[in-house]
This record gives sequence, structure tokens and C-alpha cells, in this order.
Amino acid sequence: MDGSATGSRYDETYARWKADPQAFWGKAAEGIAWSVPPRTVFDPTLGVYGRWFPEGRLNTCHNALDRHVAAGHGGRTALIWDSPVTGRSARYTYAELRDRVARLAGALATRGVGAGDRVIVYMPMVPEAAIAMLACARLGAVHSVVFGGFAAAELAARIADAKPKVIVSATCGLEPGRVVKYKPLLDAAIALSPHRPDACIILQRPESPCELTPGRDTDLLQAEAEAMPHPCVAVAATDPLYILYTSGTTGAPKGIVRDNGGHAVALLNSMSMLYGLAAGDVMWTASDVGWVVGHSYIVYGPLLAGCTTVLYEGKPVGTPDPGAFWRVCAEHGVKVLFTAPTALRAIKKEDPEGRHVARYDLSKLEALFLAGERCDPPTAEWASALFGKPVIDHWWQTETGWSISGNFRGLGLFPAKFGSGGKPAPGYDLRVLDEGGQEVPRGQIGTLAVKLPLPPANLPTLWHADDRFRSAYLETFPGYYNTSDAGMIDGEGYVSVMSRTDDIINVAGHRLSTGAMEEVLAAHPDVAECAVVGVKDSLKGQAPIGLVVLKAGVDRAEADIAKELVALVRDRIGPVAAFKEARVVARLPKTRSGKILRGTIRRIADGETYTVPPTIDDPVILDEITGVLKAAER
Ligand code: COA
Ligand code: AMP
Repeated sequence: MDGSATGSRYDETYARWKADPQAFWGKAAEGIAWSVPPRTVFDPTLGVYGRWFPEGRLNTCHNALDRHVAAGHGGRTALIWDSPVTGRSARYTYAELRDRVARLAGALATRGVGAGDRVIVYMPMVPEAAIAMLACARLGAVHSVVFGGFAAAELAARIADAKPKVIVSATCGLEPGRVVKYKPLLDAAIALSPHRPDACIILQRPESPCELTPGRDTDLLQAEAEAMPHPCVAVAATDPLYILYTSGTTGAPKGIVRDNGGHAVALLNSMSMLYGLAAGDVMWTASDVGWVVGHSYIVYGPLLAGCTTVLYEGKPVGTPDPGAFWRVCAEHGVKVLFTAPTALRAIKKEDPEGRHVARYDLSKLEALFLAGERCDPPTAEWASALFGKPVIDHWWQTETGWSISGNFRGLGLFPAKFGSGGKPAPGYDLRVLDEGGQEVPRGQIGTLAVKLPLPPANLPTLWHADDRFRSAYLETFPGYYNTSDAGMIDGEGYVSVMSRTDDIINVAGHRLSTGAMEEVLAAHPDVAECAVVGVKDSLKGQAPIGLVVLKAGVDRAEADIAKELVALVRDRIGPVAAFKEARVVARLPKTRSGKILRGTIRRIADGETYTVPPTIDDPVILDEITGVLKAAER
């Protein structure tokens, strides 16, 4: 269906962007307070594929906090912390948040942090996580937030690559039924990393206070109390605001770089165009600040737009019940809720009838946005029937920082098609390409690729790795950014994202690399070779499963080895990998040239029909694999 036929201004807006992208983004840039307004919107000669707003100067924290205070909105609520796992909550006005951020910025500055220096933020879902991010932005420093569910080795890899001057952390995170002690993880990571930070600033949480390391650590509240508020430092629009590491196809994570200017412009624009929100509205993104969704829509997007953001430390179920999301929405007057389909599936599993929904007044909730993985139509239909409000699946990546496709509340919604991630966002010239880089006809599946340049807020490069950026994203299809997602665009322009074309899997909305898990399994002394694939999981979307071939002569109990492998992945990558299953097989199916047929293994594990690849070395192995995968109920 054509958007314009239904009153949506999507078609008109997309056409306006396409006709003159510079005018479109130049106009959007007017919403930002620049200390030096950019004369050029986009310069194709700079950077790897061009840079947005190259001469502009600004401070992102000023745009997120100070300017709202200066405009007389200091008393408006900026951030609501809602933490069912601690039983606590807090509210911060724009003025209060600005004051805490300015002091923490002062504390960082006295520890030598200045513009361009990196700071790692390794924190649970506490207000101080957002305060630390904004404090870095205030100084023009570059934050790199590391998700709390990663193990020490993953944190160490990020410390080694980002080389932070300071690490801001907390003593613990809280998972249902378990206190995750951060301090031992932090200490282990620093010991593992070749780079040492000069200082650590640590939030003592009453749930698990701990001894600080003398000479290195300071209590965060004490550091803030002792510091002078630091003013905002203007930086170039093209200077990095943050690095966010994400899974790549090898064990080494990719440092996605986000700049200041393009990021502020695109995020502010998305708040109105995509989410249909204005200053004073309440947005709740039920994600984690460790993920891109959390960066963009728990912290920066809502604050740039003068909205109220909710920072939630809890789960969709079990904290205390499957009504938790609806309680938060009702209590805080949430207008737009953004979460992952897996969270809805978790709620649906425990409360299929939506009994908990009926307990709360959700009259203020206007729309539900979903991302992180494709939302399966039954879940979208369930949510839609339950609320009678738009349920909008929108597709994005850490690399893009905001949505590549979606449905645009601010432009008037076009009719939803469940199973589709909407239509391309103005800013993205999205194409579907075959292996040779030719466009495929509408309705056919291929690789989703964005014709360069990428819009503002998308990664300009990888941290100190232009070549890796080129080879990972730009070389497969010259002139295009390869999303590594396979999908199609139908005759009406709706995009469907079906699967990854690389080894990335999505487990409970968390992006993980099977290659990284294979590296861990291969390090076990009894393992000769291995393959990890993502199999269908009714709750988490996908779950990893490892098949291992043991070295000749190993005669230990397979169950013991499997247990060790599960523990090893948890220890090296972290609990978030959700790696719970390893099976011993005699051989792995391979092509004659020795490539492991992971796609075929996955299809067998999912019980799908498959054709025996003509290049297979020995087809009998497939029957053996089928037998092993069927042997135990998953
Ligand atoms: N710190 C430490 N450990 C963490 C963690 C964190 N921040 N987040 C998750 N973990 C742990 C969990 O406790 C779990 O550990 P366990 O193996 O001891 O049980 C493990 O990592 C796997 O977590 P997860 O895959 O999230 O499963 P779960 O059973 O704990 O929860 C859901 C399932 C669906 C409720 C939950 O995954 C969820 O809410 N997902 C939404 C994800 C999301 O918002 N993604 C962002 C993209 S928009
Ligand atoms: P991340 O970088 O963690 O945001 O993960 C990005 C990947 O998640 C994408 O490349 C997709 O594979 C998947 N993804 C995110 N949102 C969607 C969506 N709405 N539909 C389909 N896949 C999605």
C-alpha cells in the first residue's frame, strides 16, 4: 500500500530526502545548537566515504542537557530510574542531571581526561551509567560502554583496543537471583589487558559494596562531591562521541565509531520523524546502555529532544511478574515503549491472556517499537490485539545508530505488515543485491545494502581500523555498505529482514558471533575441531549450539567435556552468550575444499528440509549429525 494513499507523509518525505539529501539533513541540523554551525552538510572527499557536517562544532552534552536548562526547562524530568531488582527508584530533572554530569566531568578532568581521551563505562542499569556517558560527552572525551553480561576477557579486549585513561564502573549488577560482582571482573580484565587505565571511578552499590583498590579507585559519589563542575567543551562534528564494540566475524570485536555532529542531528530527527515524540514526552527503551539501542534511545535521543527517559533495571518477567513492563508504562506515563521481541515473547509465555495488562492504566501508551531481531508475526499480532495500538518493527544495527527501516509515527503511519521491518528510513537508499552486486527484482531475497553515503549517525569508520572498515563493509559491493543482513523489498516497498549472511546470531536480542564461540571451543585441549550454529529458540529467537570433534585418543566422558565447554564459553565470553549446549560428533560435514557446512547443520538442527550440497565431501555425515542432534531433546 502506498503511504500517501493512507494519509502518511512517508512517500513525500522519502522523495524529498532522495531529491536533495543535503537540503534534508541541512534542515535537520537546524535543530541542534552548534557553537560553530556547519557550512557544509556533507563532504564526500573526507574520511572513508565522506563526512557529515565537517566544519561544525558542538557539544553533545550541551545539546542533551544544558540547552534545555538554559531554555527554562531545568525543572522538567529528564531521567527516571526504575529498579525493581533493588526496590528503588529515582527521578532527575534536567537541572539535576546536568549538575551531576558536570561534576563527574570535573572528576574525570582531574584524572587527566580531556577531549579525545577514552573512558570505558562498565556499569549496570543505574543512572550513573548515563551520567558517566554524558560526562564524557561534556569533555569531548570518547566513551566506550561495555555490557555487564560480558566476561573479563571481553572487557580486557575492549580495554586493550580503546586504551582508556579512566574506567567508570560499579561494584555490582543485579540479575534475578544473582549478584554479578563487577569489581573482580574489572580487576581480572585490567590484569589481562596490556593497557592499564590511570584510574577507576567506582559506584559503591549498597547491594554489594566492596573494597576499592588504593591508588587506583575512587568512590564515584566521593569523586563527584570533590570535583568542580566542568563546562561543555566544543568539539568538531566529526570527532568521536563514542566507540561501541560489537561482534564481528572473528573473536576480535569491532569498535563502531559514532561522531558528535551527525549523531546529534540524526537522533534528534528520528525522535520526531520515527517515534513521533516531542519535548516533555516520556520514552522508555527497555534495553541496556551496553547496547546501541540503549545509547541511542535510553540516553541520547530522548535527552536531545527534551523528553523524559526511563532507565529500567529489571526484566520483562520475574521482576516480579510479567506485568512489570505495564506497571512501568502506567506509573511513568510512557508514551512510546521500545523493546525487543524476545521480551514480548517472554511476557506472552507467562501471561498469554494479558491478564497483567488489565491491571494497569495504559491510556498514555501510544505505540510499541520493536528491534534487535525480526519480530515474528504471531508475537506482533498478540501485542497488537492486546493493546490495540501500533506495534512497529524497525530494523537497525549497532553500525547505523538508528533505524534503517521502520514505520514513521511523526509522518503518519502507513499500514503495518507484520513480519516486515517497515520501509526504508529517509536517509537510506536501500537496495537488495545478488552475489554479483546486481539488484534483484522486487520480492526476491538478496543481501540488503545501502548505497553510499550512509546517513548521519552511521559509523564513519571502525576505531583505528579504516582498512577493516573497508574490508568488512564496503568491499563486497563497491559503492554500497553491506549490512550483512539478507532480506527483500516487496512490490509495495516493505522491507523484510530474514537472516544474517555472516556468522552473527541474535540471542535474546543480543548480537553474538558464533566465530568467537568457536575460537573458545577450539581452545579446549580435547577439541580437534568445532562448529557453532544458531538454532531456532521459541523464547530467545536463536540459541547457540556447538558441535565438537574430539582429538584422537580422548576417551573422557562426553558429558564432562560438554560441561567444560559450556563453562569455558561463559568464562571467556560471558553469560550473555547463553551457550548451554555442546555435542560431541565423530566428524563435521564439510565441502571437498574443507569448508564446514554450518548452514546445513543449522537446518538439520531446526528440523528444516535441506538439500545435500553438491560439494559435500561425504553425505553420510549428515545422517550422523541428524542422529546426534535428535538424540537429546532440545
Ligand atoms: N549482566 C550480567 N549478566 C547478564 C546481564 C547483565 N547485564 N544480562 C544478562 N545476563 C545473563 C543472564 O542473567 C543470563 O544468565 P544465566 O545463564 O545465569 O541465566 C544470561 O546472561 C543470558 O541472558 P538472557 O539471554 O538475557 O536470558 P534471560 O533468561 O536472563 O532473560 C529475556 C531472557 C528474554 C527476559 C531477556 O533476554 C530480555 O529481556 N531480553 C531483551 C534483550 C534486549 O533488550 N536487547 C536489546 C536489543 S533492543
Ligand atoms: P545489533 O548490532 O546488536 O543492533 O544487531 C543488529 C542485527 O540485529 C541486524 O544486523 C539484524 O540481523 C538484527 N536485527 C535488528 N533489528 C532487526 C529487525 N527489526 N528485524 C530483523 N533483524 C533485526
